[in-house]
Amino acid sequence: MNGATGRMGYRQHLVRSILAIRDQGGVLLADGSRVQVEPILVGRSESTLRQLAERHDIEHYTTDLDAALADDRWQIYADFLVTKARVPAIRKAIAAGKAIYTEKPTAESFAEALELAVLAEAAGVKNGVVHDKLYLPGLRKLERLIASGFFGRILSVRGEFGYWVFEGDWQRSQRPSWNYRGQDGGGIVVDMFPHWNYVLENLFGRVESVYARAVTHIPVRVDENDVAFEATADDAAYAIFELEGGIVAQLNSSWTVRVNREELVEFQVDGTLGSAVVGLFGCKIQPRTATPRPVWNPDLAESHDYSDDWLEVPTNDVFENGFKTQWEEFIRHVVDDGPNRFDFLAGARGVQLAEQGLRSSLTGRRIDLPVVSLPAVAVPSSHPVPPIHAAQP
Ligand SMILES: NC(=O)c1ccc[n+]([C@@H]2O[C@H](COP(=O)([O-])OP(=O)(O)OC[C@H]3O[C@@H](n4cnc5c(N)ncnc54)[C@H](O)[C@@H]3O)[C@@H](O)[C@H]2O)c1
Repeated sequence: MNGATGRMGYRQHLVRSILAIRDQGGVLLADGSRVQVEPILVGRSESTLRQLAERHDIEHYTTDLDAALADDRWQIYADFLVTKARVPAIRKAIAAGKAIYTEKPTAESFAEALELAVLAEAAGVKNGVVHDKLYLPGLRKLERLIASGFFGRILSVRGEFGYWVFEGDWQRSQRPSWNYRGQDGGGIVVDMFPHWNYVLENLFGRVESVYARAVTHIPVRVDENDVAFEATADDAAYAIFELEGGIVAQLNSSWTVRVNREELVEFQVDGTLGSAVVGLFGCKIQPRTATPRPVWNPDLAESHDYSDDWLEVPTNDVFENGFKTQWEEFIRHVVDDGPNRFDFLAGARGVQLAEQGLRSSLTGRRIDLPVVSLPAVAVPSSHPVPPIHAAQP
């Protein structure tokens, strides 16, 4: 587990996933048996790793990634490093023949993200990328609504993600400062568009084009050492995505917005037969048959409470931590050859969307997104496919 001392690596991957799996006695396999997990923490600071290992009763830790990769006891390389450090580490893990599970974005550029997918395929190593938002209770309920036909024809998706991230001067920032420096792999487009890509393509349809405006609203922030720095990365992005089948998705992502919603992320989906508003946990619906009949009248103060017209969808299920659930799927894929839904190629599509979103913002143009596929070298020569559809028209 490389980067287990970081925000995501520690809380979601180590504590909430791997240690929770260890505590429950491992991952259940198809034949009813269980496979147990044994983590090795990898990082740069021996003392930090030792403290973490002692706190959680973990036997193994090292600052020597190469030695860990060369050791056959460790079957999966997991990467939660800052984005900038990811590609070289994953290249090594592929060369060492490890199965690989990684945070998103898989790389800073689409070319590198695709290269990782090609290298992993050529080396025959199993690979997976975090798609955590799809496992959120709110989005699982949305998935169920879509499958039930509730919406009729889906017309549009509107999403608001964000909250105020303190600048660091009079209150400490609640996110690491590298997120606000482009040269260090930061930026809300690079961070959030990979999420939006998998949410949209898995629930609604492939993202066919993007128009985005990325902005740095707060030009100076203060880092972990109380030193002011120039914010060189975007902290808000306003985007329109056109999806396969004609659905229009409009998503705002911002670290410079104050929350006036029920949750930090909310999506409204409107269809001919009904609408839904979902967050991390909640899901409200309004069917066609219970839709009020608003009439625009600027002369009268509003007397109707529109929020009252919505019905809460019950949970009806047990939703575990999404990171843990996806870890269990990936471990089953590695040891049991279970299905793998989200591989490096899916990760590359997310990076493509981020890259083209930034390009759209720079040029002021809507950009069509080519279908991403592995080049012909990765498939048998009797079934040739055209090379990578990566070039822009
Ligand atoms: N899935 C999600 O919802 C989600 C949310 C936030 C972040 N992330 C992703 O997780 C990754 C980590 O983000 P974070 O917020 O945990 O960051 P963080 O800064 O808290 O942690 C980064 C980790 O990388 C290590 N590190 C830093 N620089 C390094 C270097 N040069 N070489 C090797 N190791 C280095 C740090 O010691 C730390 O362990 C990022 O790629 C980010 O995009 C995902």
